[in-house]
Amino acid sequence: MSHDIRHYRPLALLALVFAAGCGRAPVEPAPTAKFEMAATRHPVAIRRPAGPPSVPTGTLDEKGRPVTIACANCHATKPAVADAKLGSPLKLFHQGLIGQHGTLSCVSCHNPTDGYASLRLADGKSVPYAEVMTLCAQCHGPQFRDYQHGAHGGMTGYWDLSKGSRVRNNCVDCHDSHAPKYPTVTPAPGPNDRNPSGGGHE
Ligand code: HEC
Ligand code: HEC
Ligand code: HEC
Ligand code: HEC
Repeated sequence: MSHDIRHYRPLALLALVFAAGCGRAPVEPAPTAKFEMAATRHPVAIRRPAGPPSVPTGTLDEKGRPVTIACANCHATKPAVADAKLGSPLKLFHQGLIGQHGTLSCVSCHNPTDGYASLRLADGKSVPYAEVMTLCAQCHGPQFRDYQHGAHGGMTGYWDLSKGSRVRNNCVDCHDSHAPKYPTVTPAPGPNDRNPSGGGHE
């Protein structure tokens, strides 16, 4: 008697569940909510120098703009002096450049194989000026890791990227490559600065 009922009860229950399920239009969790979150994740931009520096000649062109010379104009033909160092001032040119950055020679950062048109790593690999952080990171791994975690180098914008974008400073916004000790330079203006002569904008 009760034997039979016990046997069929689970099946009957299952059938009921199926019937109920089929009778209703499927209700799915709104998938768009998820996609909207992803779409409003704003970007993180890193400020970088526009390109190779150049040397001002002190003269203006007919439109009043300063005339500058690219490094390679002089250095493509001049053999590189490998033992020139920051801290011992040059006599013939760049006299104003008196830096202090460990005891680094100029060619530990400036690439002598292309007339100083780029930077270079210790293995000789060329690095464009705009990627100067790759050069700094080579010798300052701990600070670069801190930077990547957000513990060094600051930012403007949003921690929460769903609310807005974030702009990170470049190492050289705060540290002068030739004299990187922090208090010797004023940090470059922030990215919201409206004066374009500050340079270094994205
Ligand atoms: C008008 C020519 C001229 C321009 C432009 C110029 N330099 Fe020089 N540079 C020189 C001269 C001359 C020396 C040698 C100075 C000395 O020995 O006292 C020199 C020396 C150097 C040195 C020291 C090592 C070496 O090879 O003598 C470096 C590094 C250097 N220049 C980098 C640069 C960079 C980077 C630029 C571009 C931002 C640049 N120079 C633009 C003329 C120039
Ligand atoms: C630690 C790396 C490093 C060393 C060492 C270094 N430079 Fe530079 N130099 C740079 C970078 C990077 C720039 C581009 C400007 C900037 O981002 O600060 C630059 C810019 C320059 C410029 C153009 C702008 C300016 O300041 O006049 C000249 C000229 C120059 N360097 C010459 C030299 C000379 C000469 C030496 C050696 C006495 C030297 N540098 C050593 C990294 C270095
Ligand atoms: C070839 C290796 C090398 C490269 C490339 C290099 N540095 Fe350095 N840096 C050094 C050495 C060596 C010191 C001195 C460390 C010391 O005296 O304890 C130093 C010191 C510093 C200091 C501390 C200065 C002080 O007196 O407190 C800062 C900041 C710094 N570097 C920033 C930079 C930045 C920014 C760049 C990229 C433009 C850079 N470095 C590229 C080797 C390097
Ligand atoms: C927002 C400005 C800022 C930026 C961007 C920045 N730094 Fe610094 N950095 C500082 C300050 C401020 C100090 C001095 C910290 C202190 O005295 O404790 C410092 C110190 C350092 C030192 C000296 C050692 C130390 O930790 O005190 C090194 C090396 C250095 N920074 C490398 C870098 C490198 C490499 C980058 C790029 C990846 C970078 N910094 C980006 C502001 C900055």
